Amino acid sequence: MKQKPCYILGIESSCDETAAAVLNHNKVLSNCITNQEIHEQYGGVVPELASRAHQINIIPVVKKAITEAKININQISAIACTQGPGLLGSLLVGNSFSKSVSMGLKIPLIGVNHMQAHLLVHFIEDKEISVPNFPFIGVNVSGGHTQIILVKDYFDMEIIGNTLDDAIGEAFDKCGNTLGLDYPSGPKIDNLSKLGDPTKFNFPIPKVNGLNISYSGSKTSFINFIKKEKDKDSNFISNNLNDICSSIQFNLIKNITNKIELAVRKTNIKSIAIGGGVSGNSTLRDFLIEKKKKEKWKVYIPPMCYTTDNAAMIGIAGYLKYKKKKFSNLSFEVKSRMEF
Ligand code: KG4
Ligand code: ZN
Repeated sequence: MKQKPCYILGIESSCDETAAAVLNHNKVLSNCITNQEIHEQYGGVVPELASRAHQINIIPVVKKAITEAKININQISAIACTQGPGLLGSLLVGNSFSKSVSMGLKIPLIGVNHMQAHLLVHFIEDKEISVPNFPFIGVNVSGGHTQIILVKDYFDMEIIGNTLDDAIGEAFDKCGNTLGLDYPSGPKIDNLSKLGDPTKFNFPIPKVNGLNISYSGSKTSFINFIKKEKDKDSNFISNNLNDICSSIQFNLIKNITNKIELAVRKTNIKSIAIGGGVSGNSTLRDFLIEKKKKEKWKVYIPPMCYTTDNAAMIGIAGYLKYKKKKFSNLSFEVKSRMEF
């Protein structure tokens, strides 16, 4: 029997991407993003500028998503938006927009946890996605978070490991900044590292007990190392860029893969799904593919378009909540920090 259409409009505005997507049930019809290039010159996101740019971008990006989905705005069944965590000024733009649409069209409003949504992309119906069974270990690696999560159900997630200081993406971006690479430099380091030797330079991996993790030590030792080498040779970076990128990428990824291995040993769950911007990293992806081949892990690696912030992830989380009638009321508030 043919399913009745159910169109969910997803809105993401937690940081510096203004994004809108339309899903029909769990299928993505459109996934549109406006990146805010304005932050590149500052080496990081400037909250006030992000919020202003969201206000300019939100209506055009939503119009684009609806046009690409080939639907009419009146066909939308519910609107889902990021409730948190994120920058308050940025979240507020998507939140107030979504509340107005919900009121205007008299459709349900659904608040979504951004970090849960990064992992829920594995439930999008797509030929490149295979759906994990519960329970599985979710690994959220992004610019603001580094979490190891026991995922028992769509919205029953328990953080079993967390960063004690910097997030992995933040460490990539700060190391990249030291090398003079534009923000966000994670993908640039990844590209440059492909032609480099990961064993050329060694950086320490901070020792943290259990599944928690730390990144500030590696970052600081990297910054000090570069400064020292540059004092000896002003061309050190340009002469060694590929090897430097490859070596720091090896270090930052090894830190999290050690913890993933420990999580598998501790939980006896060999089913791993990754999410967040750093889940696009080639060394992390290669590690998981190797584990699948050699140790029969079940690994779930999202297509690149669902790694960095996007609205399809908010749409799928919204759809899963819609099915359970988990709606938010119009007075719900955005949160810079948000528990699961
Ligand atoms: O999930 P995301 O788009 O935003 C947050 O929720 O934080 O993640 C952005 C982060 C940035 O730090 C960026 O440098 C990093 O993901 N990133 C990467 C790669 N692609 C994006 N880091 C390493 N390797 C990549 N290929
Ligand atoms: Zn994110």
